[in-house]
Amino acid sequence: MPNDQVATSSAPDTAVPIVDVQGMSVKFVSREATVYAVNGVDFRLMPGEVLCVIGESGSGKSVSMRALMRLLPDKAQIAGKVHVSGRDVLSMTQSELTAMRGRDVSMIFQEPMTALDPVYTIGDQISETILRHEPVGRDVAMKRALDLLEFVRVPSAARRLKSYPFELSGGLRQRAMIAMALSCSPKLLLADEPTTALDATVQIQVLILLRKLQKEMGMGMIFVTHDLSVAAQVADKVAVMYAGQIVEMGHVRDVLRNPQHPYTQGMLASTVHGQDRNKDIPAIPGSPPDMRLRVAGCSFAPRCPHASESCHTSEPPRVALGADRYARCILPDPSRGPNIMPQKVSA
Ligand SMILES: Nc1ncnc2c1ncn2[C@@H]1O[C@H](COP(=O)(O)OP(=O)(O)O)[C@@H](O)[C@H]1O
Ligand SMILES: [Mg+2]
Repeated sequence: MPNDQVATSSAPDTAVPIVDVQGMSVKFVSREATVYAVNGVDFRLMPGEVLCVIGESGSGKSVSMRALMRLLPDKAQIAGKVHVSGRDVLSMTQSELTAMRGRDVSMIFQEPMTALDPVYTIGDQISETILRHEPVGRDVAMKRALDLLEFVRVPSAARRLKSYPFELSGGLRQRAMIAMALSCSPKLLLADEPTTALDATVQIQVLILLRKLQKEMGMGMIFVTHDLSVAAQVADKVAVMYAGQIVEMGHVRDVLRNPQHPYTQGMLASTVHGQDRNKDIPAIPGSPPDMRLRVAGCSFAPRCPHASESCHTSEPPRVALGADRYARCILPDPSRGPNIMPQKVSA
């Protein structure tokens, strides 16, 4: 393993990253068009670490998460290095993928009703997941389902075990889905905007709970959110996505306090305190690029207040800004001190 990868203090003593993605790209190819959804994503996540992915709608967050589990339609073409738990996901057979999903890697979604089956009780659904992956009997699986509901702080868990999804509130359904995702103690939990459908107080409760569970289990976690204050509270690292690329990545405090990419700066500058959590991240003038087109230069250049001529013609390099930090931009200068925002570049 390369020397530049250092496990954080929260990570168990192991050298194998739970996720190792280099140059990952995903395109959707159909007769009408090709959509370049993810364009060269690089990141590593060590066991026990939490990564938050933020970025405007359509920037490739969900597609990137699904690519880690190969949960994409057939027309999706995934390329690059995609290793999870040291295994090459892109060369797995269907049966290897099925075994991995739910056991090694679990995903929770924005709307629990898409993950929960309306015609089965919560207890049946959680125990079914356990039975699919582990050689245990039905009674043992049901007892584990009960423990899991208690673990995710569902009140009157024994009664809820016999409930159908429609009998639960949104917050309890979300907890039931989390219990199901945790049922086989996955090494990695992917949470794609898991709380946007909930009201603000329940959202915070669920996220704080997820963070606690993640710590107790030593599990790696990647979650997508629009809410920067949530990112600051829950994550170790943050990846800022724009047009299918990670434009800035680093420890959450460094990035939020001292953003180096103009997109991150714009996003933070337009964040008003106490913003509506259910809203998309604040608007930056202009609109994101058409993902059916390949751009020659930096895809943020048309909206960037600092763009120089070369930004429109050549792709910006990945500038290392410390051991675990980079930005895809010509502006950041690693030798500059903290809290110095780049000045406007005169053309
Ligand atoms: N099944 C699909 N077929 C074609 N294009 C898709 C498909 N799923 C997503 N995309 C496109 O890929 C891009 C990234 O989408 P997505 O990852 O869902 O964005 P987000 O950051 O909002 O999660 C978008 O341009 C979206 O329209
Ligand atoms: Mg999404």
